[in-house]
Amino acid sequence: MTTYRIGVIGLGQRIAHVLAAMKEVGWDLDVVGHADPAPVGAPILATAGIHAGRAFDSPAELLRAGPFDLLTLGAPNHLHFEHLMLALDAGVPIFAEKPIVRTEDETEALARRLAGASPPVYVGLVMRSLPIVRDVLGRVDSGDLGEIVSIDATEHLAPDHGGYIARNWRRKQAWGGSYFLDKVVHDFDVFGRLVGARPERVASFGGRRIFTSERREPPRTYEDGSDAYVLRDAGWGAANDAFQSDMDVTDHQVAMIEYANDVRLSFHANSHTALTERRWYVAGTEGTLIADLVRNKLMVRRALFRGKPEKIEYGGVTADAHNGADQAMALDLLAALEGRGAFPVTPYESMEAGLTVMAIDRAMEERQVVECAPMWARFDAARSGVGEQRLADEVL
Ligand SMILES: NC(=O)c1ccc[n+]([C@@H]2O[C@H](COP(=O)([O-])OP(=O)(O)OC[C@H]3O[C@@H](n4cnc5c(N)ncnc54)[C@H](O)[C@@H]3O)[C@@H](O)[C@H]2O)c1
Repeated sequence: MTTYRIGVIGLGQRIAHVLAAMKEVGWDLDVVGHADPAPVGAPILATAGIHAGRAFDSPAELLRAGPFDLLTLGAPNHLHFEHLMLALDAGVPIFAEKPIVRTEDETEALARRLAGASPPVYVGLVMRSLPIVRDVLGRVDSGDLGEIVSIDATEHLAPDHGGYIARNWRRKQAWGGSYFLDKVVHDFDVFGRLVGARPERVASFGGRRIFTSERREPPRTYEDGSDAYVLRDAGWGAANDAFQSDMDVTDHQVAMIEYANDVRLSFHANSHTALTERRWYVAGTEGTLIADLVRNKLMVRRALFRGKPEKIEYGGVTADAHNGADQAMALDLLAALEGRGAFPVTPYESMEAGLTVMAIDRAMEERQVVECAPMWARFDAARSGVGEQRLADEVL
């Protein structure tokens, strides 16, 4: 069995969990070293019995200690582009956390870079590896639902999760991008794949009405007296208080999309709810499905059928709400590296999902419907390597 020599840039909680899942499903891995000024994920890695390797002062120094079989990138989102560029130059397979990059300019520059010779890039859009998501895609692909007409979807978080976002680096656009980009780019990736077309126009409204200093003494404990907002270490760039931070991303937001093939979608997200939900309601001409991603349950029925709907329970619900997705992705990653199967998502799909969310956020900022055609034209030009090389230099 190959021992995978791994270099880690950004040893946060996420990459530690991914490495732990890799070990759990049978990877033989050796973390040679990591570059991270204050590795938040180190205790998670230690608990998983994985040595974090040598600590390097910078990603460049780490890369000089190669060769590696895999580089994993897991720093906050504003650093993804810079780290990707370095890793791509190293010519080694890359596992990069989502969102692949943070801005439209970075997306174009990356697309232009990937148009040349590049090592494989596997993006941690982990929902793609979940059995329930694979089934949703399979049902739609096989025509069970007929033509997809419209989709309604949600993601509603518990107060402690919203409070974590309000204290963690994700609270700042400059670091995280946006609430949607960091939290629900997964969902918009799957929707793009389900619908089979790109958004033509998008609209969105959102703001901050929960985690604001204007709220007078919001309650801070659950009914049993336990703290609601300080449960987790908020890590790199953390703020002390969920209500008194310098947060500039939304804490609730709604969006609508009209895809190029006339599929219409609405999405509702709230980061402080009593009834958590991540649900996709997909209505086709001949059938409907509801995927309940929190409870890991799928319900499907043909439109002209009055009997009981088919219900599938996938089980394996876990406290981290990933429901075994990390382990499934770890197996997909190994299969891809060993040439036994394609990784379920491509860097281009990852960039399309990111651009979709960026257009949604632009629509919200500008309070206008955003026509997406010019954005796709720029992206396609970059993908085909057309245009100047200036962006890569400017973005860096
Ligand atoms: N796929 C998923 O389900 C999922 C879940 C959580 C997070 N993520 C993604 O993973 C990434 C990390 O998120 P996280 O929750 O682990 O955050 P985190 O705060 O736990 O970890 C971020 C780490 O990056 C390090 N860092 C900061 N500056 C750095 C630099 N200049 N060079 C190297 N490292 C640096 C920090 O010290 C910290 O250890 C983000 O991109 C996030 O969107 C993905």
